[in-house]
Amino acid sequence: MKTLTIRRPDDWHLHLRDGEVLKGVIADTSAHFARAIIMPNLVPPVVTTSDAAAYRERIMAALPSGHRFEPLMTLYLTEHTNPDDVEAGKKSGLIHAVKLYPAGATTNSHGGVRNLEKVMPVLERMAKIGLPLCVHGEVTTPEVDIFDREAVFIETVLEPLRKRLPELKVTMEHVTTSDGVNYIKSSKANLAGSITTHHLIINRNDILVGGIKPHYYCLPVAKRESHRLALRAAATSGDSRFFLGTDSAPHLDPLKECACGCAGIYTSVNTMSCLAHVFEDEGALNKLEAFASLNGPAWYGLAANEQTMTLTKQETQVSFPSKRDTAAGLITVFDPGFPLFWNVTG
Ligand code: DOR
Ligand code: ZN
Repeated sequence: MKTLTIRRPDDWHLHLRDGEVLKGVIADTSAHFARAIIMPNLVPPVVTTSDAAAYRERIMAALPSGHRFEPLMTLYLTEHTNPDDVEAGKKSGLIHAVKLYPAGATTNSHGGVRNLEKVMPVLERMAKIGLPLCVHGEVTTPEVDIFDREAVFIETVLEPLRKRLPELKVTMEHVTTSDGVNYIKSSKANLAGSITTHHLIINRNDILVGGIKPHYYCLPVAKRESHRLALRAAATSGDSRFFLGTDSAPHLDPLKECACGCAGIYTSVNTMSCLAHVFEDEGALNKLEAFASLNGPAWYGLAANEQTMTLTKQETQVSFPSKRDTAAGLITVFDPGFPLFWNVTG
């Protein structure tokens, strides 16, 4: 049996939802992760510091007793966001980032940003106070092919914005392409990227070949194999600009298994087992700690966790529930498509 002990990991991009779904999923995160950056795309979204404070209380109330977990709250950027409220949120220690959803890019993003010009005062204030902008990096222009939307976003939105406001810290979330990886690697400062578990494992064939697999559909959508390989190389390189953001995004099964299924893959349950498998495959188990536990806190200006996590490679396959049963209904757990042998044992 092989074991690996790392600092306790954090998740730098997580959807916890609200109500019964929140209650049904939170333990899957808090069992393994000390902290997580909490996405604000609720209905209605988490727009103000007071919305975020109230949401944080609902999260803490849903936490099982005995679990220690710190939700790192974010604000959903709108064209009406008030820079003073953002600054007050950061100063109070509650707000750790602001999230930019281009309007229409993904789940509950219709209240997002249509015209970047309108949010420049907020972005300028964030640059001044050192608050990171988390970016859903896809254009929504109908003429742009869905598989090209990340690359076009980098060229037409992100690079011009970063030229205009070089002091703004930007997290390119859920990077899915070699274009994204190369762009992050080429930047000298103030740019980092999170990578999901599932984008290290699936490519677009997994979604489409042999029948459509709604539980592999997420946004940004998984790309061709060469992109998956670029993501694996970046994640396992130890480069401090890349870190884990699972983008674990639970949707009830009927909302995914239908004619117009929602985007999102629920990976919180087995992410650490999947990652250990991927890093071992790449001969890079010694880089898992950097990716899951060190690079993220360094980017967000926080200390790495003092506690540790031990992973053990078992002789027999580790079994995970295939569905998470919540009071609101069933949520399918990510199936990596191969047996898992690494288990979280301490
Ligand atoms: O697949 C996704 N699901 N991508 C996102 O950007 C949003 C998320 C969700 O909220 O379901
Ligand atoms: Zn997300």
